[in-house]
Amino acid sequence: MFLDRIKPLDAILATAEKKSLHRSLGGFQLMLFGIGCIIGTGIFVLTAAGAQKAGPGLMLAFIIAGLVCIVAALCYAEVAAMIPVAGSAYTYSYASVGEFLAWTVGWALILEYAVAASAVSVGWSGYFSGTILNEFMGIELPAWLAAGPLALGGAPGGFINLPALLIAFLVTGLLIIGTSESAKVNAVLVAIKVTALTAFIALTLTSPAFDAERFNPFLPAGVFGGIGTGLGAVGAAATIFFAYVGFDAVSTAAEETKNPQKNVPFGLIGSLLFCTVFYILVAAGAIGTIGGQPIMGADGVPLAAGSAELARQCAMPEYAGALVCSDEALAHVLRQIGFGPIGNLLGIAAFLALPSVILVLMFAQTRIFFVMSRDGLLPERLSVVHPRWKTPHIVTAFTGLVVGVAAAFLPVGLLADYANAGTLYAFFMVAVTVMVLRRTDPDRPRPFRMAGVNIIAPLTMLGCLFLYINLPIEAILVLPLWGVLGIAIYFGYSRSRSHLGRGIVEVVDDIGGEEKMVPIHSPES
Ligand code: ALA
Repeated sequence: MFLDRIKPLDAILATAEKKSLHRSLGGFQLMLFGIGCIIGTGIFVLTAAGAQKAGPGLMLAFIIAGLVCIVAALCYAEVAAMIPVAGSAYTYSYASVGEFLAWTVGWALILEYAVAASAVSVGWSGYFSGTILNEFMGIELPAWLAAGPLALGGAPGGFINLPALLIAFLVTGLLIIGTSESAKVNAVLVAIKVTALTAFIALTLTSPAFDAERFNPFLPAGVFGGIGTGLGAVGAAATIFFAYVGFDAVSTAAEETKNPQKNVPFGLIGSLLFCTVFYILVAAGAIGTIGGQPIMGADGVPLAAGSAELARQCAMPEYAGALVCSDEALAHVLRQIGFGPIGNLLGIAAFLALPSVILVLMFAQTRIFFVMSRDGLLPERLSVVHPRWKTPHIVTAFTGLVVGVAAAFLPVGLLADYANAGTLYAFFMVAVTVMVLRRTDPDRPRPFRMAGVNIIAPLTMLGCLFLYINLPIEAILVLPLWGVLGIAIYFGYSRSRSHLGRGIVEVVDDIGGEEKMVPIHSPES
């Protein structure tokens, strides 16, 4: 049977005791950390794709996606406070539903973190080309260097997204030499992002261009666009879910939090609620001023976001100012309503702040690879630590290569949808983990114990499933296809090399720390 290898929670927790990080974070700091990870390409760029799917119903989409994330966040809070060690959903699953499912979660987390980092790199590239190169330096990057072959709303004729490739490589270099984001830098970047969004909201909602008529029809593609179409308010919710991804990083700081029972949920829920309110207001400001109706195909259905046909339509003069065609949606709106210089400042804010989102996502990816490799499921060479920089440089370089290449050739909307598919699976499994651990390990101390677990955890699972089936069909398919590849690698390579399967488990989790192998009882030892 392959569902038998469950990593003993005591061995996992021994790790946390060894690390014994100082509990210094308060609820507000956690919230700032969350906002730093959350606000990024989703709101700054995907607002355009969301409007193409749902029109003004994008506002409803933000509410739907936000609600799913809030219930998922409660599940994360419980399990992260209980198992405060590296590896996130992968580690939680290893301790509850066993190695095989944990492997599938780790495998799906590659979509969540690496592919999401690619998506944010492409989002950054739009602002870099539009604001920094074009507006400030008067340089127009040739179409073939500015976008991959099929870029959202971009001019047809793209070949490689050079800026996206370069930012991904630059962030990789920073991670290799050991850069991690300090709380101070994070606070500054959060202030920049929040100021930019606040200015956007204030200027658009008070602009004479604001006209309530633009919200009519509110749901041009309906609430449900049909399973696999990625359309309608729920289709937009499945895409715009990306704008909330990253809050789970807060859960990884549970171990360093004072009074986690109060502060972990405060940080998670607080950052999500804060972003939800901001996102809805941003969407209202964008749509109320320049309109956000989708461009329809001949059949009266919105053209697929990121499709070649949409790119062709967007190249027509009549759609030159359309929200749904812009690569730098928010700066574009401000320029359209006569606030060109402030639009450029917002572009600079995105240019400065998005790389830190890439950094956090890539950092998380390298740590997942690191933990999987240290468990023996990936080649152990990957977890080699650089003698001087004390970073897992090989796995970081490998991650950077994957992130850079995906960013260079794929459109942001597609990347975000792929990332969402993997993330929804990981969230689903965290909800499963919470319920399993309540049954298998009811007495273990839970610094944060969620009330109503039998309602919240199933709601999380349903919410994830619901968003997943409302992704476009390519993204729905990517998860099982990716999964089949992962399962083949598991049975072909990882299962026989697994440390747990071979009866050993490490008790130190610090990167660069000394590892001690201890024999444990395992079903196959
Ligand atoms: N939520 C992050 C973003 O929107 C990943 O960029």
